Amino acid sequence: MQMTQRWIRWPAGTHNRTPTEGRNGPIAFGGDYNPEQWSEDVWQDDVRLMQEAGVNLVTVGVFSWARLQPTPDTWEFEWLDRVLDLLHEHGIAVDLATATASPPAWLTTAHPEMLPVDRLGTVLHQGGRQAWSPSSVVYREHSLRLVEKMAERYASHPALSMWHVSNELGCHNGRCYSELSAQGFRRWLRERYTDLDTFNRAWATDFWSQHYGTWEEIEPPRIAPSFSNPTQQLDFARFSSDALRDQLRAEVEVLRRHTPDVPITTNFMVMGHFKEVDYGTWVDDLDLVSNDHYMMAHDPEAHVELAFSADHTRGLAGGQPWMLLESSTSAVSWQPVNTAKPVSQLRRNSLTHVARGADAVCFFQWRASAAGAEKYHSAMLPHAGTDSELWRSVVELGADLQRLAEVSGSTVDSSVAIIVDYENWWAAELDAHPSSLLAYRRTAEGWYRSLWDANIPVDIVPRGADLTGYRVVLAPMLYLVRDADVAALDSFTRAGGQVLVTYFSGIADENDHIRLGGYPGAFRDLLGVRSDEFRPLLGEQQVALEGASLGALTGTLWSEPVVPTDAIVLATYTDGPSAGFAAITRAARGEGKAWYVSTELDAIGRRAVVDAVCAAAHVTAPIGATAGVEVVVRRSADVEYVFAINHTPQEGSVAAAGTDLLTGQVRPAPVLIPA
Ligand code: GAL
Repeated sequence: MQMTQRWIRWPAGTHNRTPTEGRNGPIAFGGDYNPEQWSEDVWQDDVRLMQEAGVNLVTVGVFSWARLQPTPDTWEFEWLDRVLDLLHEHGIAVDLATATASPPAWLTTAHPEMLPVDRLGTVLHQGGRQAWSPSSVVYREHSLRLVEKMAERYASHPALSMWHVSNELGCHNGRCYSELSAQGFRRWLRERYTDLDTFNRAWATDFWSQHYGTWEEIEPPRIAPSFSNPTQQLDFARFSSDALRDQLRAEVEVLRRHTPDVPITTNFMVMGHFKEVDYGTWVDDLDLVSNDHYMMAHDPEAHVELAFSADHTRGLAGGQPWMLLESSTSAVSWQPVNTAKPVSQLRRNSLTHVARGADAVCFFQWRASAAGAEKYHSAMLPHAGTDSELWRSVVELGADLQRLAEVSGSTVDSSVAIIVDYENWWAAELDAHPSSLLAYRRTAEGWYRSLWDANIPVDIVPRGADLTGYRVVLAPMLYLVRDADVAALDSFTRAGGQVLVTYFSGIADENDHIRLGGYPGAFRDLLGVRSDEFRPLLGEQQVALEGASLGALTGTLWSEPVVPTDAIVLATYTDGPSAGFAAITRAARGEGKAWYVSTELDAIGRRAVVDAVCAAAHVTAPIGATAGVEVVVRRSADVEYVFAINHTPQEGSVAAAGTDLLTGQVRPAPVLIPA
């Protein structure tokens, strides 16, 4: 990953600037602005209220295609000109969308073959949004025509501060099984494998009589009588991510031609449930990384998931600041029950993103829609208007962010990394595995949670990231590995690092073929252990583990009869299918150590192991705090910014002293943090 970051080009006269702001200028504050849903007199209110709230950046045009090009040969930009002029007059910078996210009805009517098709063969019609197949040439041509027009028209508009390609690429059309996609998939496969022999070997087509004699016989993994070929499924996930990236690249090419100096982003969806895109392979195409993050109301640990996603986004941004381009001020409108956030949570959530590297706090959306499928989604300005608790807290948040402006551009230092990789997420959760209960991200989040509890900063990094400088690397469920991945972890360990690998790691190569000779496959040598079979556990089944220093622990989901080759045993299974065998081990390698955990530990067990690994690496929390107070430190050349966020219903404290940027008070240690 070589992304070189370029930040928002703040126009002269941007609203809400302060003399103390940091490297990236003010912290961006705003949201998606959809003025086409309102009459022009409302726009006047909008800009006035944006100023009142301290808004300095809005995303415009995301779903404007049908308004901008009402028929194939007519263009209507004048309304958008007026929107941009108005925003600029009021000092609001514009993150201008390319408007390609949702094609107009005239286009899908003329070219129904461009519609996406799901795995069952159902066509996904016009009437919602994102009704396009990433493999459609017609869509590509029409969308690029629009991008050309947008870029030509607004290249020198003074409000233009950054480009926003499409919207959440892959959100609804991430996997398309149409005939056009089948053709695109075949082209992609030819490029990857060159000849049919190599291809047939990679897909192991001697199994179940799947041999392909011509490229034309190959299909996407459409619904089949039994499990589809796993390599077919994996390659289709790779192809689908690449097909969306091709659209991104095509739009970026147009934008760079017209406006080489304007930074380009596309809003990622780094959050718990979204795994359609391998973002690690996209970042080099962008100037800055941005994310949309929404919390799941039913998740009592949603604030930890938020921290995980923020650290993951920062990892994708190569440690540089990033933009939170969408989040919700309160309820969303797409969960079974859309609970409202207490206003204190709005502040906590937003400032947690900032603590973890966001130099922008933006929302979907500025003004709550009065109609349409998202009319019950919260916004910065709710249906109730300005006489509402939500509006008042949005205004307060804007003021908070202005007080924190000097933080922008500062970074978070971590000596612990967790490898989280989309290709592994896809592969580890394929069907016909030893257990369908394994969940890749949940396992990674579990380990993250232990570090979060200990307030140890973590970078969540994609595969292939440079591991130099870390002292601990966690590789949870790194199921599919290339030789280079194994070599990187090996050198990291030998050079003095502590590496922790969990069960179901190192099992397969990049074609999802088993690495033979015993488990954990590619990691046998590094970890100094071998198992001759998997012994997964049933849903409610628990196993007991006992270790001299780790004490009594509990495992679920997985066990293995682990036999150390030269590792020492830290805990042994005392019951269950692997009773008597090693469960947790550690091998000395060069200056470092390689730890193996062969079951899913509960929170207490994970914490015990994390503490032991961090102790071995001499990694501690940078600053002490009472339980439930989340502490993150951002650093600039000569200042440490300590964020302390209290998630408990009691007062807490952090062992830091300094100026409270939110109040201006100088505070001695420990600083009390209200409930
Ligand atoms: C995002 C999307 C927005 C809005 C939001 C609602 O997925 O980009 O347009 O739909 O969700 O939570």
